Amino acid sequence: MSEPAIEVYEVEDRTFPPPPAFTAQANTTDSSLYDEANADYEAFWARQARELLTWNTDFSTTLEWELPFAKWFVGGELNVSYNCLDRHVEAGRGDKVAFHWEGEPGDKITLTYDQLLTEVKKFSNVLKSFGLEKGDRVAIYMPMILELPIAMLACTRIGVAHSVIFGGFSADAIVDRCIDAEARLIITADAGYRRGAAAPLKPTVDQAMEIGAPSVENIVVVDRCGTDPAMVDGRDHWWHDLMAEASDNSPAEPMDSEQLLYLLYTSGTTAKPKGIMHTTGGYLTQVAFTHKYVFDLKPETDIYWCAADIGWVTGHSYIVYGPLANGCTSVMYEGTPDTPGKDRLWDIIERYGVTQLYTAPTAIRMFMKWGAEEPQKHDLSTLRVLGTVGEPINPEAWMWYHEHIGGEERPIVDTWWQTETGGNMITPLPGVTTTKPGSACHPIPGVFAELVDDNGEVVTNGGGYLTISKPWPSMLRGIWGDEERYRETYWSTYEGRYFAGDGAKLDDDGYLWLLGRVDDVMNVSGHRISTTEVESALVDHPAVAEAAVVGGTDEITGQAIIGYVILRGTHEASQELGDEIREHVGVKLGKIARPKTVIIVPDLPKTRSGKIMRRLLRDVADGRSLGDTTTLADPGVVSEIAAKAAESDED
Ligand code: WTA
Repeated sequence: MSEPAIEVYEVEDRTFPPPPAFTAQANTTDSSLYDEANADYEAFWARQARELLTWNTDFSTTLEWELPFAKWFVGGELNVSYNCLDRHVEAGRGDKVAFHWEGEPGDKITLTYDQLLTEVKKFSNVLKSFGLEKGDRVAIYMPMILELPIAMLACTRIGVAHSVIFGGFSADAIVDRCIDAEARLIITADAGYRRGAAAPLKPTVDQAMEIGAPSVENIVVVDRCGTDPAMVDGRDHWWHDLMAEASDNSPAEPMDSEQLLYLLYTSGTTAKPKGIMHTTGGYLTQVAFTHKYVFDLKPETDIYWCAADIGWVTGHSYIVYGPLANGCTSVMYEGTPDTPGKDRLWDIIERYGVTQLYTAPTAIRMFMKWGAEEPQKHDLSTLRVLGTVGEPINPEAWMWYHEHIGGEERPIVDTWWQTETGGNMITPLPGVTTTKPGSACHPIPGVFAELVDDNGEVVTNGGGYLTISKPWPSMLRGIWGDEERYRETYWSTYEGRYFAGDGAKLDDDGYLWLLGRVDDVMNVSGHRISTTEVESALVDHPAVAEAAVVGGTDEITGQAIIGYVILRGTHEASQELGDEIREHVGVKLGKIARPKTVIIVPDLPKTRSGKIMRRLLRDVADGRSLGDTTTLADPGVVSEIAAKAAESDED
């Protein structure tokens, strides 16, 4: 935590109260939920758990808190797939559409709750046929197709924990995660459609198996694109063959409220990703609650769309678990927003009559660049609530979203949360909160956030480090296999508090402004990437002696990965070598972690104690216009670094 929170905004004094037409129909419009939660937050969450979910056995204790270990809804038993599927079908809503799915090439599938339940039951029997049992882990590496939520829900039906690996990750990333989680099975597809072409997945899994993931016994492959991948006899199985044989009789097994639901790996400040653990009752309570109130959900009539990828926590909580627990109809889309045209999202919204859109600031900035004429081609009048997540939203992007997508009258919910928090934590409630462009506003009812300074003293006005001062239901329960790292990473910086890793500011009106990470984690297009992880991948290239990575500022992606490298003795700096080094990171970690720019330098500025002066490197990166290329260290860069080093008092 070398960098203090940086002030990035001018004072923003525009305010947007909830429009009267919106409050007239909103799920909540006053402070009553906040008052209730402030009076007794455990009782508040207990009420939500009982009202929003169906329990096989009621819980006896709401919260057992032995810092930093929480157990929520102790003694309670429930099943996630039952809550997401069976109970809606039993209540006569089996014909309701769960997903309007659209593939990138334009193919469409409409799946009702009844049909989804049948598929989930069948796939849970497939899992059982591989000998998988409660407590086992499986890895899922899939495109955005319906088999993905089906596989996840099938796991929850029998208590198997899934670990979804984003489809853009590399074979090495698959290996690391499978080894750490001791995954017994990988569920994948031959490929998925990206920008008009089939992007292979199964061959990457095969590479992973060659590198070695000894716990993996079987691989299930969905035939999405007909690319005819190699199949290993006895190990690889086609999804459609298994499903053709599978019975659709599979009772939902009641699980302990604290049964492990899933692992999701995320980048921290070291080279090794952390397996964030989420459990059953508390997680489902908070995602169902936030999905209902933050998006003002009307399950009977809404067509909700979270345009994220299920490979990230946003997709877990707000494409799969929250929306299905609430029994709503969602849109799910496989591909990229510019295929076949730059109006793909707006076209989808118009055709399905989407009522809520949940996307990321990076996407909004890209839409701004593409121009307002793209959304103007379509009727977006069905939209009611606009959401954003993943990184701070700059006021310009907020205003553009408000004007061009929201027609100046839809509330925007800027939701701050993390893989670790499981669900939304700081966000407006659309019928209650007067918003300010760029502010996530306030913690939700039942969540308590405070800023602290370097000494851990609470800050009530101005900048500080964001902490959460009380446990919350969907909090991570730990880091898989590393209790000490859990304690160390989140609970040791400030006594008794969860340290989020973000800087923030409280304004005079008590509004929170998130200012970005204060540790060595970069946020590129809303994705968390560790500088250390990229540095390890850079020095893994035989020509690289030393590397330093910083997040430079980028107009569209928020931050961009800039790598400074020193070459080993005999290697000559060249454009080709730099490009090769960039590609090497892409292969090691996946394309999303490939540096935008690699700068070959003769030396790196260091403090007397030998620490790389990242802030200086960031300044240098930000002061230059860097393209998607290699930049050789021209004397300019070197003297710039030298001059900055001379004037810097960093040590
Ligand atoms: C950042 C994504 C500002 C933050 C759900 C956090 C945000 C990290 C916001 C978590 C927001 C997420 N405003 N910053 N509304 N939402 N962040 O784990 O730095 O992929 O720590 O979870 O994203 O990223 P993660």
